[in-house]
Parts: sequence; C-alpha cells; structure tokens
Amino acid sequence: MRLFLDTANIQEIEEALSWGVVSGVTTNPSLVAREGREFRPTIREIAALVDGPVSAEAVSEDAPGMIAEARELAALAQNVVIKLPMGVPALKATRVLADEGIRVNMTLVFSANQALLAALAGAAYVSPFVGRLDDIGHDGMQVVAEIVDIFCDYGLETEVIAASIRHPAHVLAAAHAGSDIATVPFGVLQQMVRHPLTDSGIARFLADYRKIPG
Ligand code: E4P
Repeated sequence: MRLFLDTANIQEIEEALSWGVVSGVTTNPSLVAREGREFRPTIREIAALVDGPVSAEAVSEDAPGMIAEARELAALAQNVVIKLPMGVPALKATRVLADEGIRVNMTLVFSANQALLAALAGAAYVSPFVGRLDDIGHDGMQVVAEIVDIFCDYGLETEVIAASIRHPAHVLAAAHAGSDIATVPFGVLQQMVRHPLTDSGIARFLADYRKIPG
C-alpha cells in the first residue's frame, strides 16, 4: 500500500517527503484555504516538490466548466490529478478527461456504487471518505473493502484512495482492506511513527550505553 499526504502545507510536505514514505499528495479547497495562499501557485509549488500524483480539486458545478478547469489545472504540471466531486457532471467530465489522458480522482465518494460508476467513467482514482462515514455512524472502512473487492473481481484498474483518515488505526484497516493508497494528514503520519515501547527502549539503550566504560 502507498501513502499520500493529505495537506496543502508546504512544510509538512517537505518534512514527510524527507522520511521517504510518501508518494503523492491530495489537497482540497478547505486544505488550500487553510494555508491562506492563492490556489494555483500552491498547487504548482506542491507539484514541483512531489514526484507522484498531486490532486487538485475543480470547483465548477457543471461538466463543461469542470472540463475547462481540469485542462487548466492539468497544464500546471504533468503530475497534477484532477479531483472532481462525485455526481453526474463529474461522471460526464471524467469520461472526456480520461479520453484526453487527464487523470481524475473522484472525490466525496461514500458508496461502492458511486465508486463503480467513477471507475466505469474512467477515473484513475476513487476516494472513499472513511472518517466522514464513521462520523454519521456508518462503517467507512467497510465501503473501502467493498470497493476493493468489486474492482478486483472485475479487473477495474481504478485505484482506491482511502481518504478522510482520522487516526493510525484507519491506516492499518485500509491496508487490511486492500486499499491501494491511504491519504493521511501529517498528524496521523507522525502518530504512526511513535510507540511508547520504542521511546522507552531508546531511553534504556541510551542510558545503558552511557554506562559502558571507555
Ligand atoms: C481526501 O482527498 C480529502 O482531502 C480528505 O481526506 C478529506 O478529509 P476530511 O474528512 O478530514 O476533511
């Protein structure tokens, strides 16, 4: 399974990339707004830092608008992937964009049926939002598992990005469910590194090392 970073914060991206564990970035309008910078320059800067896919979301509400916006965003850098919010306009736009070789990440996916439609329309990625489903009392990871099974059964090449990840247990469950990718906030990535037994083990080894004569 690969890990993407779910952020538009340049410092977080640079730090996570230096760990050697992140192979892509996902953004959304809320994440970019949080940084207080202009949208396109932010995406261009992230795309220059990251070798892998960088998702940038189109905000047009009809298919022609989405297509025009996607073409413009895709021209920012060759690794820019266009996030489209699930719906009929996005399906129409995805088919056109996929035929042009522009990769789409269908976002705001909350059911296996939505994921199936996105894959059939030619989306390169689907992003089921696990945390937001859990928030309303559903089992978000069950949806991820269902999508993975269906794509596998029918040989659909669309990759699954487990999104709206809230804690390290979500990442582990996404791995067990067979998700191709999990996109994680930087805080969750930091939590994944830590274990209290690692911390106490390091402290013990350092203390004992200082007792070694010479
Ligand atoms: C995914 O690509 C989205 O940017 C993100 O995971 C949304 O997560 P949230 O539910 O924490 O906003």
